[in-house]
Amino acid sequence: MVVLVSGSGTNLQALLDRLNFVPGAPARVVRVLASRPGIGALERAERAGVPTAVLPRAAFGEREGPGSSLCRALLGELELARAGLVVLAGFLLRVPGPVVRAYRGRIINIHPALLPGFGGPGMYGRRVHAAVLDAGARVTGVTVHFVDEEYDRGPIIAQWPVPVWEDDDEESLAARVLEVEHRLLPEVVVAFARGEVRLGDGGCRWERPWFAGSRFAFEGVGEGHPSPCGSATSEG
Ligand code: GRF
Repeated sequence: MVVLVSGSGTNLQALLDRLNFVPGAPARVVRVLASRPGIGALERAERAGVPTAVLPRAAFGEREGPGSSLCRALLGELELARAGLVVLAGFLLRVPGPVVRAYRGRIINIHPALLPGFGGPGMYGRRVHAAVLDAGARVTGVTVHFVDEEYDRGPIIAQWPVPVWEDDDEESLAARVLEVEHRLLPEVVVAFARGEVRLGDGGCRWERPWFAGSRFAFEGVGEGHPSPCGSATSEG
């Protein structure tokens, strides 16, 4: 698989740890493409011995589309790597339409909220968690979905809820959600590599029940807090 990154790369690390150093793993990261140089994700890839490339920035005024430098570079890199799966792991650029079409059903994205809520253009990083807190939501979570031409709108593959505590701030919430991201993303990639999940005509198709098996019991996430309602129970 090829992983596209723009940031610190902790999700990339979760994939590397789960797949690249495990004999018999059903997939592995073969190339990492970054939207900018000098980011932590590139260091992680290099430490793991995975080849990397930095994608060209769109020239000022350049239009998105088949001829854009980003589009040509992405198509070239993905073909070179013979990518069976493309994972957007904190990739902040819009994937050009021709790339989405060429890899439809083989590009997935991870989003740190329960889509379709708290997604779309401009909803990334801490902004997502700030919006969740502003809305007073009691539950947020993680979504992994197939990528289509719209931001955060493609068919959902898997979601996992994460509680919001009353004393959460953006940082504490982001940390709790990220912990689940690091578990859910490798699970979905492994399932995809094993042919257990695919994009069908009507959306995502699972070959077996998603919750089957104990591997989806995410024990320990958010442990140590009094109740799912924050301080509400103690206040009566
Ligand atoms: C994650 O929260 C991911 O859901 C979002 O961007 C963040 C990337 O974090 N799309 P990292 O670079 O994997 O640490």
